[in-house]
Amino acid sequence: MQVLRTRAEWRAATNAVRSAGGTIGFVPTMGALHRGHQSLLDVARGACDAVAMSIFVNPLQFNDPEDIARYPRPLEKDLDIAEAAGCDLVFVPEVTEIYPSFPEMPATTVRVAGPALGFEGADRPGHFDGVATVVTLLFELTGPCRGFFGEKDFQQVAVVTQMVRDLGMPVEVVPCPTVRESDGLALSSRNVRLSPEGRTHAAVFSRSLRLGKELLSEGVSVDDVETSMANEIAAEPTVTLFYAVCVDPITLQPVRQSDHNGEVQLLVAGEVDGVRLLDNMRAHRSDAA
Ligand code: PAJ
Repeated sequence: MQVLRTRAEWRAATNAVRSAGGTIGFVPTMGALHRGHQSLLDVARGACDAVAMSIFVNPLQFNDPEDIARYPRPLEKDLDIAEAAGCDLVFVPEVTEIYPSFPEMPATTVRVAGPALGFEGADRPGHFDGVATVVTLLFELTGPCRGFFGEKDFQQVAVVTQMVRDLGMPVEVVPCPTVRESDGLALSSRNVRLSPEGRTHAAVFSRSLRLGKELLSEGVSVDDVETSMANEIAAEPTVTLFYAVCVDPITLQPVRQSDHNGEVQLLVAGEVDGVRLLDNMRAHRSDAA
């Protein structure tokens, strides 16, 4: 496994794979790797000749300075996990390698409208601009590849997919299933910040999604499903609800605006112990045409 630290080294290493006729599976991460990230590496390994992963805690996508300060950075452990997962190339740039003017932010950023506007985009101003900008930079440095992203961050997948399409980037975005704990909690680098009590309560997010999915399949209206999911979450002590909605899986617009062949994405988000948690699930409306 090669560990590369500069843009030039990364370009050279990824170009070398393609020159030898190989395909690249690219997995961008912010490190603190867990089984969710490992599953992306596994899918990439099965689909491509070489697996390339970036580890970069992107300051541009954090709106809360405390959040980035507290973000875990266990680099040695991450490199061991990457090696064990069969990673071929790991990009670990310093912040000034990606943003040379840091701490001043770059004058050029990428802004996606459409699927980036609601939910996480509305609650965290600038977050998706930060994601879109760093992913554009990383895609540009990596060159033609398949990019593997977790459906855990469903809106992020929608935003990156839209951006790749709009800008004609030579990347195929591959969404990968969410990896969960046994009680349903989606794995996240932030889960380590939960208290034992908060950790137990956090299972309410996936529970509310399973409830919503079941109610939709029974023909319950979208409005009532959203209310039931919200009530389920709000009833859990120490959990603050941000949103519980049924949206179109591509545009992330409210499903009640048009016919979507019954396919619905349930999105929930909230806070436990000051930690922002989000989750989502695909569901099917039995009342749809
Ligand atoms: P990070 O939170 O480190 O996540 C890296 C990738 O792992 C993302 O595609 C995310 O959706 C995926 N992932 C996280 N938890 C998962 C789980 N439980 N199951 C499956 N996949 C999971 O997302 C980011 O970093 C950043 O925004 C990034 C795209 C790297 C840009 O900075």
